[in-house]
Amino acid sequence: MNADSEKKAAAERALRHVEEGSVIGVGTGSTVDHFIAGLARMADRIEGAVSSSERSTAKLKAAGIRVLDLNATGDLPLYVDGADEVDPHKRLIKGGGGALTREKIVAAASRRFVCIVDRGKRVELLGRFPLPVEVIPMARSYVARQLVRLGGQPVWREGFVTDNGNWILDVHHLVITDPVGLERAIGEIAGVVCVGLFARRPADVVIAGDEES
Ligand code: 5RP
Repeated sequence: MNADSEKKAAAERALRHVEEGSVIGVGTGSTVDHFIAGLARMADRIEGAVSSSERSTAKLKAAGIRVLDLNATGDLPLYVDGADEVDPHKRLIKGGGGALTREKIVAAASRRFVCIVDRGKRVELLGRFPLPVEVIPMARSYVARQLVRLGGQPVWREGFVTDNGNWILDVHHLVITDPVGLERAIGEIAGVVCVGLFARRPADVVIAGDEES
């Protein structure tokens, strides 16, 4: 199977976790696009979806799925999203698509997080993929200097604006031996909106291609 077939297989398998009549948290990315295509087939059997991005909102609506406001739904039974890297403890790097902040919010508000990936996303140690950090625009240089102190090499994703009106720094060459500690340390830097480490709230289930664990 190539990477896209593995993404599709993972997305199809994730549909088994969807309960009829429920509201589903939906992530962002090419893997999630396959999930939305599958969810469209059961649009009349779910209550609706809470979306993590403008991109997914447009795709959900086009698929005939009602998009609901998280403020109105309360906690969700299920969140389905992709990732850029997954370690053996189901901790993740996310944000390659720049939707990390809303993704982290919906993941936090969900009882079960099912992560869908192709097998190439599995790693022993997080950090080969540059770690996305969403920052308030005026804090870009300040945050970048603090990230250098933490051992990283931040690169501004120039020209990209998040759905929240902020900017992204992609941090290269981090050796992430303590994902929980690093998530906390970066999150505490003034001007950081969100860090794309999902370690304090990892995935509950990982589906890589047709392998579920
Ligand atoms: C978006 C994300 C995506 O889940 C991540 O980038 C994986 O994307 P894809 O499914 O296209 O490989 O975190 O912010």
